[in-house]
Amino acid sequence: MPIHEVKHPLIQHKLGLMRRADISTKNFRELAQEIGALLTYEATKDFNLQEKTIEGWAGPVTVEQIHGKKITIVPILRAGLGMLDGVLSLVPVARVSVVGQIRNEETLEANTYLEKLVGELDQRMALIVDPMVATGGSMISTIDLLKKAGSTEIRALVLVAAPEGIKKVLDAHPDVSIYTASVDECLNEKGYILPGLGDAGDKIFGTK
Ligand code: URA
Repeated sequence: MPIHEVKHPLIQHKLGLMRRADISTKNFRELAQEIGALLTYEATKDFNLQEKTIEGWAGPVTVEQIHGKKITIVPILRAGLGMLDGVLSLVPVARVSVVGQIRNEETLEANTYLEKLVGELDQRMALIVDPMVATGGSMISTIDLLKKAGSTEIRALVLVAAPEGIKKVLDAHPDVSIYTASVDECLNEKGYILPGLGDAGDKIFGTK
């Protein structure tokens, strides 16, 4: 299923806290990382395990290990950085590919200004992190460039997504799965998600 709205009580409670108009930068930042970690938990639950016998404290013991999964986390600058540590807290050995997308505030189109990708993308699952899928432009542009560079398995972790953006992303890339804490109502005329979170980048970095 390409869209996963994760209804776990911890995620929904934390998202509710993030929607408060008077939330502090500190709290918004912490909650973005925490939900990032919880979405990672959900997005990795189908990973295959393989048995391995190791030397335990009382002799040999058979344990399970994740099998053959290399990961690159792909934060979309700048707001994606606000979830990166949360994702890394669950997959600490993952390599990080950084993509910079800037939205033209008039046309709402995404322009890529930075692309710093790790190697062997064809052998890695890419976990794109961005707090919002609004119009879908940045996400589509990031998926386009990852596929061009060799990615074949891509999942996106987002705090809040608009139905319009989800449709655009999945029309362009039906093979990509999106994990989100909420599919919200709609976009406003300025491309902001309603009820949404406001400007996630500003709230994470304390700008404005
Ligand atoms: N980017 C944001 O930070 N918020 C929105 O609502 C839409 C795009």
